[in-house]
Amino acid sequence: MNYVIRSVRPEEWPAVKALRLLALQDPIAHLAFLETYEEAVARPDSYWRERTARAAEGASDVQQIVAVAPDGEWVGSLTVLIEEAGTEDWAGCRVERRQAHVVGVYVRPECRGIGLTEVLFDAGIEWAWGRGGERVRLIVHEDNGRAQAFYRRAGFVPSGVLVPLGDGDELELEYVLER
Ligand SMILES: CC(C)(COP(=O)(O)OP(=O)(O)OC[C@H]1O[C@@H](n2cnc3c(N)ncnc32)[C@H](O)[C@@H]1OP(=O)(O)O)[C@@H](O)C(=O)NCCC(=O)NCCS
Repeated sequence: MNYVIRSVRPEEWPAVKALRLLALQDPIAHLAFLETYEEAVARPDSYWRERTARAAEGASDVQQIVAVAPDGEWVGSLTVLIEEAGTEDWAGCRVERRQAHVVGVYVRPECRGIGLTEVLFDAGIEWAWGRGGERVRLIVHEDNGRAQAFYRRAGFVPSGVLVPLGDGDELELEYVLER
């Protein structure tokens, strides 16, 4: 597979923006992402600059990892957030142990089902491991069958936590890191 898997660089904010806007136009974007295309496209360049710099190579608590095709096109991405024990997460729930939260998972349709998503996840999990995370978690909509099938194949299992969000529940899946 001739894709390069790497962290984003601060100056790459236009590519971060372009891939995110593409993801938000996916037919199942309403199930996959908490933000709408309209919200994202209205954001100023300063937002994309800051978002990219915060998650770039060398950052300690958040990392955006991308898959780059041989022609330089960005074809997939995910972002790993480190959550510290004792803090509250975005849903107001207490974080019990140092863990990683994977968000913003997206692979272009023409690159799905070819093993690329696995490689992206391997990189995300390795980064979380290197930051001392004890588990990796993510949430997935109950109706997002394809994403759920992928996550389960990748070793994620339901944690038992259900997050009620808008139209329907989201399931929390976890991958426990054995240290
Ligand atoms: C989620 C995503 C990253 C998964 O990557 P992928 O490359 O498509 O995953 P794979 O094709 O390797 O695996 C998906 C599995 O679901 C199966 N599948 C396909 N469509 C399906 C459907 N509608 N319902 C259930 N399973 C489905 C595939 O056959 C495959 O099965 P397998 O494990 O037996 O091979 C990608 O599909 C994507 O970007 N989707 C849009 C954004 C999104 O949903 N992001 C996740 C938000 S939580």
